[in-house]
Amino acid sequence: NEVAKESLRSPICCIMGHVDTGKTKLLDCIRGTNVQEGEAGGITQQIGATYFPAENIRERTKELRPDAKLKVPGLLVIDTPGHESFSNLRSRGSNLCDIAILVVDIMHGLEPQTIESLNLLRKRNTEFIVALNKVDRLYGWKTCKNAPIEKALALQSKDVVIEFNMRLTQVITQFKEQGLNTEIYYKNKEMGDTFSIVPTSAISGEGIPDLLLYLVMWSQKTMVEKLTFVDKVQCTVLEVKVIPGHGTTIDVVLVNGVLHEGDQIVACGSQGPIITTVRSLLTRHPMKELRVKGTYQHHREVKAAQCIKITAQGLEHAVAGTSLHVIGPDVDVDEAKKTAMEDMKSVMSLVDKSGEGVYVQASTLGSLEALLEFLKSPDVKIPVSGIGLGPVHKKDIMKAGVMLEKKKEYATVLAFDVKITTEARELADNMGVKIFSADIIYHLFDQFKGYVKDVRD
Ligand code: GTP
Ligand code: MG
Ligand code: NA
Repeated sequence: NEVAKESLRSPICCIMGHVDTGKTKLLDCIRGTNVQEGEAGGITQQIGATYFPAENIRERTKELRPDAKLKVPGLLVIDTPGHESFSNLRSRGSNLCDIAILVVDIMHGLEPQTIESLNLLRKRNTEFIVALNKVDRLYGWKTCKNAPIEKALALQSKDVVIEFNMRLTQVITQFKEQGLNTEIYYKNKEMGDTFSIVPTSAISGEGIPDLLLYLVMWSQKTMVEKLTFVDKVQCTVLEVKVIPGHGTTIDVVLVNGVLHEGDQIVACGSQGPIITTVRSLLTRHPMKELRVKGTYQHHREVKAAQCIKITAQGLEHAVAGTSLHVIGPDVDVDEAKKTAMEDMKSVMSLVDKSGEGVYVQASTLGSLEALLEFLKSPDVKIPVSGIGLGPVHKKDIMKAGVMLEKKKEYATVLAFDVKITTEARELADNMGVKIFSADIIYHLFDQFKGYVKDVRD
């Protein structure tokens, strides 16, 4: 149905779960790539994005359902890290997506970041599918490359089926303990209330057709309104990156609307709004990962949903995790600047009005927000007097130093996932400002708590 295809945009799907459950490998299996083996330590440390055109999905799912009608142009998949340090990136991914895949290792069941991801998805009422991955690790599993899962299971010995059922039941029980009903997808008659589990192998591809087809069919059936294309640009900055030959660029997810070369845009900057002109719109080829080195496709315009690298001047202080706005013919520039900075405002509201508190510095708006929420929580309660984004500079130490006269223990910088310049460190030493730095939120808390105790003793 060409008319419907015209009006629906690609669903944005986030893949989440505990470290090493096989998120990147699953995407490699679908793409026919080898991204995971190129990752330092085999660990994902950035958000990734890949566009899967409907033609590829149809090809991959034709054995399962040759007559399936795909009404969406494709699927935009966001890969997130599972390591505990990157809760900010999981949060950013989950904030963007229409639907998600929660990956669970069949040999391990639910793990801490499975639960963390689950809670992020619930917070936003995001529908998700559980991929119960690594079925090929069941003892005695017979490979059935890229087969639909029921076909693959029918080929297994009785012992393999027994172990599979036992592990599946365990996982269903563990989800129940989290207050969630789950069922293997082809037996799930109450879709919507009961979440579906699709068994998969990222190594031999069993269950991949089921996963892809289910994702697409489920989203185009239940999310028509959400997926209906609208002209108004809705766009989020994923990462700010320096690329040789391009300067500082931003990777964005265009959720709705169309972006053009030469568009005037407003971005949220840590030093104020950034107004600039789109120099070029770049994408990776379909089925290729944005974060991996390779050639770019240049575009005059790009229609949502898509992941795009934008090159433009003056993006140095752009803040990841904020929205990007386009200045159209009937948009007031001052109004647009204000809107662009709104994301910062909600974070500013978390800062203590009394003026007494620690100074907090983080890498992105999302992680800053997470840190501020954490410091505010009842069992932590550390007041914050000032915030900053990006590396810690001398000026940040100066601001934190104001507390030396008011409350010495608050003359502290809590630096989350950011670099500290040598000058800043020297100045802090001279002034008596403490810097605590960590890439796990609660480590900052532990360090600070120990310090406060020392100061008070
Ligand atoms: P992070 O991004 O670091 O959180 O990990 P991830 O979830 O992306 O997992 P990754 O793709 O890095 O896979 C982790 C390890 O598990 C790698 O050694 C993979 O080869 C292996 N692996 C992933 N999926 C499967 C699978 O289905 N079967 C088997 N046998 N191994 C798998
Ligand atoms: Mg990964
Ligand atoms: Na990994």
